[in-house]
Amino acid sequence: MNSIMNGLSIFLLLSFAFTIKADLPGVFNVKKYGAKSDGSSDISQALLSAWKEACAATGSTIVFIQKGDYALRQVDLVGPCKGDITFKLEGTLKAPTNPGDLGGDCWVRFRDVDGLKVSGGGTFDGQGEVAWKQNNCAKTANCKALPMNIRFDFVTNAMIQDITSLDSKNFHINVMGCKNITFKHVTITAPEDSANTDGIHMGRCNGVNIIDTNIGTGDDCISIGDGSQQVTISGVTCGPGHGISVGSLGKYKNEEPVVGIFVKSCQITGTSNGVRIKSWPGMYAGTASDIHFEDITMKNVSNPVLIDQTYCPWGQCNEKATSNVKLSEISFKRIKGTSATALAVKLACSRTLPCEKVELGDIDLTYSGNEGPAKSECTNIKPIVSGKLNPPGC
Ligand SMILES: *[C@@H]1O[C@H](CO)[C@@H](O)[C@H](O)[C@H]1NC(C)=O
Ligand SMILES: *[C@@H]1O[C@H](CO)[C@@H](O)[C@H](O)[C@H]1NC(C)=O
Repeated sequence: MNSIMNGLSIFLLLSFAFTIKADLPGVFNVKKYGAKSDGSSDISQALLSAWKEACAATGSTIVFIQKGDYALRQVDLVGPCKGDITFKLEGTLKAPTNPGDLGGDCWVRFRDVDGLKVSGGGTFDGQGEVAWKQNNCAKTANCKALPMNIRFDFVTNAMIQDITSLDSKNFHINVMGCKNITFKHVTITAPEDSANTDGIHMGRCNGVNIIDTNIGTGDDCISIGDGSQQVTISGVTCGPGHGISVGSLGKYKNEEPVVGIFVKSCQITGTSNGVRIKSWPGMYAGTASDIHFEDITMKNVSNPVLIDQTYCPWGQCNEKATSNVKLSEISFKRIKGTSATALAVKLACSRTLPCEKVELGDIDLTYSGNEGPAKSECTNIKPIVSGKLNPPGC
């Protein structure tokens, strides 16, 4: 009798354990709303219904996508929500391969949500390969922007953790108008030759943290646009890609100041740039200040330390004009490793607005190619130097 009872209670316990995730109050499993994990049935209606009900419920809610492959078209996951909402993705979401099937400028958008959590170990697969071939932005300034994988617009007090963004058609993650948003253990992957696939781009945000995150992509691993304030980046590995960049700045009218950027303990490998600040010549005014790069390890990086106020890709501006963006209070400290070119430190500032209060301290960058030892070059700037500098300061 006892053993039968035990067997029964174990059975009940087990079956409870297996269904708990899907059926607990507060859990909105997309499968209950008709989503199929066959990799081809579009789940956007099921996801939108689950989100809508979760968002309208009080307390902590979870929109849950179990393991499996799901096809998903464009969705806007919009707040404000009544309680704290978690988007728990264990499975893999797959975007349509044809960018025309997405419309708009992004695939998955979170907007106006306070207290958002995204987690679960799952993947947003942008399936960008077809789209990359259509990207003509290197040839024409008026190219049509391809859709990004994920947008966070006006999201506050958010934690984005343990997810992967794969092969986005354009930027992987775009963070706009957010306050207090943290990315932790995020993985971003796209091939080195996929154009404009920036890892995380931000603008007009206050309080962005990117921690222990791995990014390998075809453009900037992280790019910090105008109006970014109080940004902390640490424990990030970057490569392949174009490095960690502030900018580009000065391309548009009425850009807001960049203030308070702290990049520390990062490893950058095999990229075309390491840590960089870039602004367009001959264009609009702006400022960037209080920017600090510390304890960065470079491995075979082409331009490890770079201020480039003559940034003008694809000849889209007057390269002889001067940048109207003022740079000040910037430091590069304890930057070590190997450069893939002899010019390891290049600080090219604006002729009309020279850089001010730029500090170089304890730099040790070596170059082992056949162009001689590593060197540095400075224009329109007199850096403040401290500690040992290799290459010597200029
Ligand atoms: C920032 O957001 C986190 C959630 O990720 C929250 O725990 C924390 O309290 C928020 N900080 C502030 C100052 O509101
Ligand atoms: C270093 O980078 C250069 C330029 O990107 C590349 O050609 C070379 O193969 C790299 N070397 C190593 C050892 O990875």
